[in-house]
Amino acid sequence: MRDFNINQITFDELDELRRPAPETTDFDRVVDAAMSRRGFLRGVLAFGSGAAAMGLGNMMSATSAQAQAAAASRFAFTPIAIATDFTVHVPEGYSWAPVAKWGQPLFSDAEAYDPANGISAAGQARAFGENTDGMELFNIGGRQVIAVNHEYVNLDINLPNNADDGLPASAEDVLMVQNAQGISVMEVAEGADGWSIVVDSPFNRRITNNTPMTISGPAAGHDLLKTEADPTGTAVLGTLNNCGAGKTPWGTYLTCEENFNGYFGSTNAELAMPEGFDRYGIEAESGYAYEKFDPRFDIAVNPNEPHRFGYIVEINPADPTSTPVKHTALGRFKHENAACVLNAAGRVVVYLGDDERGEFLYRYVSNGVYVTGGDTSNLLVDGVLSVAKFAEDGTGQWLALTPETTGMDAAMICIHTRQAASAVGATTMDRPEWVAVNPVAVEGYCALTNNSRRKADATNAGGDAMVAVENSPNPRAENGYGQIVRWYPADDDHAADAFTWDLYVMAGNPTVHQDAYAGSANVTAGNMFNSPDGMMFDSTGLLWIQTDGDDSNEGDFAGQGNNQMLVGDPVTGEIARFLTGPKGGEVTGLTFSSDRRTVFVGLQHPGGNFPDGEGLPRSTVIAVKRNDGAVLA
Ligand code: FEO
Ligand code: CA
Ligand code: CA
Repeated sequence: MRDFNINQITFDELDELRRPAPETTDFDRVVDAAMSRRGFLRGVLAFGSGAAAMGLGNMMSATSAQAQAAAASRFAFTPIAIATDFTVHVPEGYSWAPVAKWGQPLFSDAEAYDPANGISAAGQARAFGENTDGMELFNIGGRQVIAVNHEYVNLDINLPNNADDGLPASAEDVLMVQNAQGISVMEVAEGADGWSIVVDSPFNRRITNNTPMTISGPAAGHDLLKTEADPTGTAVLGTLNNCGAGKTPWGTYLTCEENFNGYFGSTNAELAMPEGFDRYGIEAESGYAYEKFDPRFDIAVNPNEPHRFGYIVEINPADPTSTPVKHTALGRFKHENAACVLNAAGRVVVYLGDDERGEFLYRYVSNGVYVTGGDTSNLLVDGVLSVAKFAEDGTGQWLALTPETTGMDAAMICIHTRQAASAVGATTMDRPEWVAVNPVAVEGYCALTNNSRRKADATNAGGDAMVAVENSPNPRAENGYGQIVRWYPADDDHAADAFTWDLYVMAGNPTVHQDAYAGSANVTAGNMFNSPDGMMFDSTGLLWIQTDGDDSNEGDFAGQGNNQMLVGDPVTGEIARFLTGPKGGEVTGLTFSSDRRTVFVGLQHPGGNFPDGEGLPRSTVIAVKRNDGAVLA
């Protein structure tokens, strides 16, 4: 493992460090068996045919994929090389510029950001937050409004004058950090100098770790959600660790609470943890010391507060006075993003990943149907949550989580969702990150970012086996590269319970490995990457893929450079590098302007002093355009 600086890693990595691997009895792989398996798999991926086509059939042979790509590439750009510097690179004929940086005011009354000292708690409540992540653009009466997540904080940067790598040392510090997270809703406009925030727009809003919200669905009002401050169990303050995002057909924003566990701690280290905390990684030691200055986050005082986080939250970007709603019907876990699509009958289908090693891929289907202009208030409240089980013959099933299948009541399924999914035998996945749904074909994609702990005898936190399985979506042990699984719903219906699946890509390094760790046939020395994470389709059906991986450019990752954004063609399998981010950072979150001439891209925890060239590094949303102003996507 690398020698991590705790402030220079992602929250996912921090969570991994804080949560030791489930006990394993055998760290040595059975080399012969593994080599044989990888050899087989590599063969399958390179020459997919026959029985393998059941599972990996659309992974075309190298020759046919390359021939098709060369003959009819749909990419309108020349792929770029890797980079290892502290800035952004885009293809020739394109340009990029910052739009919103950490600490930049959304309102003219915000206290100024200081390049050396950052920003105060009061100023931060009126300014763009830290660590930008998932985002969506809304066209509201012709105005461009972006809702964007601020996933977590880099304490040494956000509280640069504090000891202990920036650990909060006062209630004011905690408030500053709480205000740096959550969501920014901001109007942006394009002028002669490019895109910028419309300061004081009536749409501008900051939502933080303390913004009042309501709770909906089967778990609303349950005893486990009641606290002294909220005896109804229906009203909560704030949203935590907002990672990926989603957008409903009725124009609301879905923000996804991921590693909420790291925000809670106990001032009594001897406290026995309540039931279920272990599965979610909630421990006496927190990441941010909130519990020392804000008793709401002290498990010893408020043992039910953690039950009120880990949900999908719906926000109306058109009404800054609206109250966000936490939808328990979509389950409680480390939510990555929320990919929303309507089936032909009008049911709302939301695909959801739970990003932790060996956790699961979920799907919610509304009981009601969406009608344009109709009442949408129950569509994310009343529905069926299911979890994916993948078979080695290339088929799969969505297994409904119901009292009959899980032995748990409807509310408990929504609170202890991981346990419910374990009860039905879901497939343990290599960290499900974003799901994307193709707008021009009935198929879904999930980035399985990596899983260093998949191996014989390994389990997830619930004790479910986490071995590598041939012809499965998780075929490699000690998987440092990641892969993207794709499924095709039966009858072209996203609400159907059966599907078939294949792997769109297995990331790897063909310059270092000759086995399955070289990656699938559509991975080459020229386009290789590791740890796919953010994903979104454009309107033409091309898949934009962002990475959050190892940017050491050494060893297994030699030649892969900084984190990047690539574009994939689902039909040919072709993948090409479009953008590289600053060293030290992750590329995460993207959305397109209404005219499709701009793609907004998020750069999280950049290194150096990006983007200002001096002072503290600032997480930034950039705009990327073609120099000729043509439509991008
Ligand atoms: Fe917030 Fe799993 O990424
Ligand atoms: Ca992510
Ligand atoms: Ca990640």
